[in-house]
Amino acid sequence: IKKIGILTSGGDCAGLNAILRAVVKRAEGGYGWEVYGIEKGTHGLYARPPLLRRLRPGMFNGALLRQAGTILGTTNKGDPFAYPMEDGSTSDRSDELIEGFQLAGLDALIGVGGDGSQAILLKLAEKGGIPLVCIPKTIDNDIGATEVAVGYDTAMQVATDALDKLQPTAASHDRVMVLEVMGRDAGHIALNAGIAGGADVILIPEISYDLENVATHIRGIYDRGRNFALVVVAEATPGPASHQVTRTMEDGQVRYGGVGHWVGQEIAQRTGAEVRVTVLGHIQRGGVPTPRDRLMASVFGVRAVDLLAQGKAGHMVAWVNRQVTELPIRDAIAAFANVDVAGPLVSTARGLGICFGDGKE
Ligand code: F6P
Repeated sequence: IKKIGILTSGGDCAGLNAILRAVVKRAEGGYGWEVYGIEKGTHGLYARPPLLRRLRPGMFNGALLRQAGTILGTTNKGDPFAYPMEDGSTSDRSDELIEGFQLAGLDALIGVGGDGSQAILLKLAEKGGIPLVCIPKTIDNDIGATEVAVGYDTAMQVATDALDKLQPTAASHDRVMVLEVMGRDAGHIALNAGIAGGADVILIPEISYDLENVATHIRGIYDRGRNFALVVVAEATPGPASHQVTRTMEDGQVRYGGVGHWVGQEIAQRTGAEVRVTVLGHIQRGGVPTPRDRLMASVFGVRAVDLLAQGKAGHMVAWVNRQVTELPIRDAIAAFANVDVAGPLVSTARGLGICFGDGKE
């Protein structure tokens, strides 16, 4: 190996630049390899010449470790095997990407992405004979094969911080504050930030709820003399079609949003309380990466380079039982993990008296 490429793919999150830093420091500093960033995810490989940027260790000595986003850019649209064309049809453009990789003169690729991006990269790598190692990142924390994915901790921090900021204003105005958070199909951000931020109610897609139970719980809080309540709603919590925005992108990925407003409206009607709703949105993808995200970015970046050096292509790096390890990408992406309703966090929340709206509180 003399030259490797790295790309970030899918939705951005905090800690991606920290991954680039670790990869560049290890690859150039440890093995003397040249590292090229591919811009705009796989889209940089459609361009002729391919969109490459030489990354050097000196670029990463200052601010980038601390900066969210990705200096390479990213994309979460367009499966190359069924690329959406302007006339509404789809076309297999995978050969263009493989040719772009060959034109770039790269010997191996590190792909940073969630399960969707990794599935696409694996297919490309297998078709084109490209040595590939993947690094998991997602604010949704839904890759079951690793206990930690880069970006999740910062998103949790942002959501907890939002509750810290909502609580005093809720108490000052005698209000119920509803906070809608991201997480795609999983309720991890809602559950974890909800516990950490002192929520009274947490609604997640993994637990079916009845708003009458939620209303009873909130009435009880007021009856006992507290003058505010905090409600966290995961974006994929089911709600009526009229209020939940569910968009399916060209590549089949689903976007959610808006259920928090409906929950807020219902709580107001059922309890008579004054309710305000905050939809946190993409703020959860920004912010200064937490120490945990920077640490995991560093661990994963170094390990990914070492795996390529050891000839272990086809693997995703993972954090399991306090160790960095690796497993085949194919197995990693098959292990989707949403909230374990029988797991320790749900029982902790129940132990704290947090209401899931399922009548078990
Ligand atoms: O997967 C990350 C994520 O931020 C989800 O939590 C959210 O549902 C989605 O991406 C938003 O996608 P977009 O940036 O395309 O609006």
